[in-house]
Amino acid sequence: MKKNGFWIFLISTLLFSETAMAETVMKKLPAPVMTGGKPLMEAIAERKTIREFKAQDIDEQTLSEILWTAFGISHDGKRTIPTAMNQQNLKVYVVKNDGAWLYDAAGNTLTQITAENLQPLFATQDFMKNVPVNLVYVGSDEKYSPMHAGSAYQNVGLYAASKGMHSVVRGYFDNDKVTKALGLENGERAIVS
Ligand SMILES: Cc1cc2nc3c(=O)[nH]c(=O)nc-3n(C[C@H](O)[C@H](O)[C@H](O)COP(=O)(O)O)c2cc1C
Repeated sequence: MKKNGFWIFLISTLLFSETAMAETVMKKLPAPVMTGGKPLMEAIAERKTIREFKAQDIDEQTLSEILWTAFGISHDGKRTIPTAMNQQNLKVYVVKNDGAWLYDAAGNTLTQITAENLQPLFATQDFMKNVPVNLVYVGSDEKYSPMHAGSAYQNVGLYAASKGMHSVVRGYFDNDKVTKALGLENGERAIVS
């Protein structure tokens, strides 16, 4: 009896720790401020690739606004970018020092995919060693997802110009490694970051 009690205790402890380990880490972002910034024509004129970054964390307000411009919801459940047949075939992952996160626009949340720092996977150019945040645009529609990614990174480039921040779009990373690290499936692939 005593022995049985021990095993039941051990098994329930193991089950409990498994559950704790599998717990999803989710972060609520502050609401994006949808006003302000430079006028559109100035932002367009100033948008450019700048490959210089400071190794500092991005604040959550700015991250929320970047994600909203990239692929947030702005009208009738639809996005800040147009999408083919409104199928919204795009996902935006956030890669930072504290892991990789999936953006959920409806909830304005980030769900952690892994706590592993995947930044080194993207450090294929020297300036990438310092980037505070890396957005990875993922989709499964061969024809339209890349177009959606293009619209999203253009919005982000304009936001950056409007706020005096630096940004660059990159296709230079090992797609297979990124696909594996993000656990992508069902034909999804990382398009650009
Ligand atoms: C789809 C795409 C992929 C790109 N990939 C890279 C890249 O891997 N590395 C990089 O340094 N710049 C990359 N760029 C940035 C371009 O080099 C840059 O946009 C171009 O030189 C024009 O400069 P501008 O953005 O200042 O107008 C990429 C741009 C696009 C649109």
